[in-house]
Amino acid sequence: MHKTIVAPSILACDFSRLGVEVERVTAAGADWIHCDVMDGHLVDNISFGPAFVEAVARHTALPLDVHLMIERPDIYVPRFVPVASSISVHVEAHHDVSASLKAIRAAGKLAGLAISPPTPLERVKPFLGEFDILLVMTVNPGFGGQPFLPEMLGKVAEADAWRGEWNFRIEVDGGINAVTAAECVSRGASLLVAGTSVFRATDVAAEIQLLRDAR
Ligand code: DX5
Ligand code: ZN
Repeated sequence: MHKTIVAPSILACDFSRLGVEVERVTAAGADWIHCDVMDGHLVDNISFGPAFVEAVARHTALPLDVHLMIERPDIYVPRFVPVASSISVHVEAHHDVSASLKAIRAAGKLAGLAISPPTPLERVKPFLGEFDILLVMTVNPGFGGQPFLPEMLGKVAEADAWRGEWNFRIEVDGGINAVTAAECVSRGASLLVAGTSVFRATDVAAEIQLLRDAR
């Protein structure tokens, strides 16, 4: 079993104080920092690009988990390689999924494959063995602060059953708090992304520990 990794999503921080916010979650015990890149095409929002992720990197030594919610990850993966430790691409985007995953691994990074709520889990099956992380979206991607979709727990459990044969982490992203984290972890998730619950917590360190201990 994998040890739980807690990755606060920087999308939920105060962008006007980016450096301070990154240092705040780093000091509070975050394991990784999750960076949500959105292009306004794959999802209905535009967030930030490589320069912003580089700015995050200047304020922490933690691994950066880059989540590309963009239509052409094949073009942009190389721009994130210098600062990312893991890069996830969506199975719904317009690209050669295998080629993108291979490019991420060839650059020495962990390759993640992300799947949105409406997409059946079968869509990622052909790529088993080609990714290190399966990112199961537990909200419709595009915005922080949305409620967790409990129907996605079935996907987590189903993916967990594939892991006898294949070795990958299951990451959950969207609406994760201490309660929903426990539901995901008990079904096999071990990489927890949390934006609102961490950045809005009165005690960030305690919140991160709660997520890490969720069972
Ligand atoms: C949603 C993003 C998430 C988001 C999570 O499109 O992929 O990473 O920041 O935010 P919360 O935890 O607020 O749902
Ligand atoms: Zn994300």
